[in-house]
Amino acid sequence: MKAAVLNANEGRFDIEEVSIDAPKGREVLVDVKACGLCHSDLHLAEANYGTPLPAVLGHELAGIVSAVGPHVRELKVGDHVVGSLVQFCGHCISCLSGRTYQCENPQETMRASEDGQRLTRTSDGAPVYTGWGTAAFAEQTLVHENQLVKVPEEVPFPQASILGCGVITGAGAAINTADMRPGETAVVIGVGGVGLNVIAGAKLAGAERIIAIDAQPQKEELARKFGATDFINAKDTDAVAAVKAILPRGADHAFEVIGLTSTSEQAIQMVRPGGGVYLIGLHRPGQTFPLAGLDVIVRQVDLRGVFMGSSNIKRDIPMYADLYLQGRFNLDDLVSREVNISEINEAYEDLKHGAIARSVITSF
Ligand SMILES: NC(=O)c1ccc[n+]([C@@H]2O[C@H](COP(=O)([O-])OP(=O)(O)OC[C@H]3O[C@@H](n4cnc5c(N)ncnc54)[C@H](O)[C@@H]3O)[C@@H](O)[C@H]2O)c1
Ligand SMILES: [Zn+2]
Ligand SMILES: [Zn+2]
Repeated sequence: MKAAVLNANEGRFDIEEVSIDAPKGREVLVDVKACGLCHSDLHLAEANYGTPLPAVLGHELAGIVSAVGPHVRELKVGDHVVGSLVQFCGHCISCLSGRTYQCENPQETMRASEDGQRLTRTSDGAPVYTGWGTAAFAEQTLVHENQLVKVPEEVPFPQASILGCGVITGAGAAINTADMRPGETAVVIGVGGVGLNVIAGAKLAGAERIIAIDAQPQKEELARKFGATDFINAKDTDAVAAVKAILPRGADHAFEVIGLTSTSEQAIQMVRPGGGVYLIGLHRPGQTFPLAGLDVIVRQVDLRGVFMGSSNIKRDIPMYADLYLQGRFNLDDLVSREVNISEINEAYEDLKHGAIARSVITSF
């Protein structure tokens, strides 16, 4: 089958033939119908985050179950599914407490070495790593059933795919991690595929004011469509002062959705005493930034790292799918364009510079 393989941390993928095994244990074979191009895959392509190479990445997927392993209980052939990189065992204390996103044994969803390779390079049989446990930049993928969620067939595949990361991370950060309440205020720094969903989640939670900040002025229209009440162009403005001009006390919540130290520091300055700061954008491995400890203590800033919007995927993905079908959650405007897998490198160039929400691979 055709797959986009990451062979080196040079920021680009190679289209190659890769062979895929039959499902074992609780693995599910999925025909990939759509896979969103999340910025996290680009981060892993550009820098060494510890992922073994060569690897197939891609974690924002929707598809159809084409075969199941002998111990699969929840899914059957023909089911429409969304996949997620949240890997959980289901039996550790965190999982049993409902915090599957803090699972202590995520590796249990990967194949044991004695079971052989899920993926191999067709030309020489070399092992190819299943990135994120999902490896969806490919025509088919083998995924543990815990990482897959059945969704209604009425949700189109491109829209469904974004439920797997952008939606649960962004909306989940506002609804689950920040536990936003009606009447609260939020600042969202970086309004790409994930940031737009923070806006959507804040709106769903009843936010009174949602300030979107981005360096691309073209993002204003999209941000307002998802519920932003204000837009600040970060390019030619002091963003902290601009937020304080709108909210003199500071915001109740500030979400950093880019992964930069400069905007992470800004987020801390944008909140009121006791406000919440949520770091969502991935920082580079080893990257640090100075923290004005006294200021954080005196203003009692609640600083949190966010993993996948603190989402329980089996509960939350069907919820957002249902809200979409009721016309209460916007997935359609998240799909900016559909591309062939051979266009993956160009589509990622567009992500860096263009005014898109998400490009989605829908053909191979
Ligand atoms: N923590 C998690 O669980 C999690 C999950 C998914 C994605 N992420 C991360 O979230 C981040 C966003 O992902 P995405 O797919 O939405 O990316 P994206 O590229 O679609 O969005 C980033 C946005 O930031 C804007 N931007 C870039 N530099 C800026 C600057 N200096 N000032 C203001 N705006 C700036 C861009 O114009 C763009 O709109 C990435 O770092 C990604 O890896 C984290
Ligand atoms: Zn992602
Ligand atoms: Zn667990």
